[in-house]
Amino acid sequence: MAAAKQLAALTVLAALLVGSVSSQAAYAYGPSPSPTPPTPPPTTPPPPPPSSDNDAGKKLRVGYYRNKCGRYVDVEAIVRKHVSSFDAGMQAGIVRLFFHDCFVRGCDASVLLDPTSDNPVPEKLGIPNFPSLRGYEVIDAAKAEIESRCPGTVSCADIVAFAARDASYFLSSGAISFAMPAGRYDGAVSFANETLPNLPPPFAGLQQLRRMFADKGLDDFDMVTLSGAHSIGRSHCSSFADRLPPSNTSDMDPALADALQGSCASANGTDNTVMQDPVTPDVLDNQYYKNVLARRVLFTSDAALTAGFMTNDLVRAYAELTPYLWQRKFGQAMVKMGRIEIKTAATGEIRKTCRLVNS
Ligand code: HEM
Ligand SMILES: *[C@@H]1O[C@H](CO)[C@@H](O)[C@H](O)[C@H]1NC(C)=O
Ligand SMILES: *[C@@H]1O[C@H](CO)[C@@H](O)[C@H](O)[C@H]1NC(C)=O
Repeated sequence: MAAAKQLAALTVLAALLVGSVSSQAAYAYGPSPSPTPPTPPPTTPPPPPPSSDNDAGKKLRVGYYRNKCGRYVDVEAIVRKHVSSFDAGMQAGIVRLFFHDCFVRGCDASVLLDPTSDNPVPEKLGIPNFPSLRGYEVIDAAKAEIESRCPGTVSCADIVAFAARDASYFLSSGAISFAMPAGRYDGAVSFANETLPNLPPPFAGLQQLRRMFADKGLDDFDMVTLSGAHSIGRSHCSSFADRLPPSNTSDMDPALADALQGSCASANGTDNTVMQDPVTPDVLDNQYYKNVLARRVLFTSDAALTAGFMTNDLVRAYAELTPYLWQRKFGQAMVKMGRIEIKTAATGEIRKTCRLVNS
């Protein structure tokens, strides 16, 4: 049994080492729980991705701003300085902000737009974002300094991407360190009614998660790898109420369920918050995967990762093998997420302030 378990983990590891995060080889492992068989090598070019902008994602470049603001203005260093000046909670918020930006109309800073008379209900007021999404002030601070030193040049979408990279770096004490390609433009459209259809809900099962990530060009590997972000930050109790008594039919560890019931009890109806990872709450690490295996996670969507053969093996590999494995794959998956439906000079703008479209 132990040998079989090790073999499964090693097979996933082999796939991780030979392939990219999105390698098809990963799907070839073992019996597939999904009704869809592994895709054979394409004989004709694959159909275009859902968004016509996806080609732009491939053109993002590391060091994009290096020559754009003169010799003495290091755009990425300015972002990093501001991210470092906020606490771990805000830094966690920034990692989530990037995800919520990219999944709704692509990584175009549409999530940052405030309500206006022209557009009274933007993304940030959508159910998945309000009131829980945080980190906007970090972006504002970085943008203000960048705009004063290099006006009209650096997109809010790139600032969000850099900030998420930097938050990952600080929350992992430097263990997660990767280059973030840039060159995104900012979008002008932001509707709250597009958040629920695009952002997976916490009560999603494996099939729904798969479908919603696949809609963004992300596969099971990316999904399992990015979910490790739930080793930091907090959640409102309302987000996992379905997993607690009296409505609980979940397999959550009873000790955790008891503790959560205590933390979530409120006399006046306040929606309390709890830490996502009770073991190392402010460290972005592979503890999440150990929590998944121990049934000590908040959401159905977390627990669901063990429901597929490949996803389960990957959870085990991340939990049991060297932490370096997940740290490295997380960086790669963040870069891949950062390529979703990118806007260009033709389809976007460089906003002057991140909360408003240019007039
Ligand atoms: C797999 C599907 C996912 C679901 C269903 C999901 C759902 C959620 C929910 C419900 C919360 C708590 C919100 C609240 O009630 O306050 C949360 C928090 C968080 N999520 Fe996810 N999430 C998913 C994937 C991701 C991804 C891909 C990332 C980033 C790479 C991410 C990063 C975070 C972070 C950092 C927090 C804590 C935020 C804070 O403390 O402010 N999540 N997520
Ligand atoms: C979403 O809201 C916008 C702005 O109110 C509206 O124009 C659009 O038709 C809505 N879309 C859907 C699918 O309801
Ligand atoms: C619900 O949670 C309680 C307390 O944690 C536990 O004793 C009970 O077995 C759970 N019920 C179900 C159906 O999971």
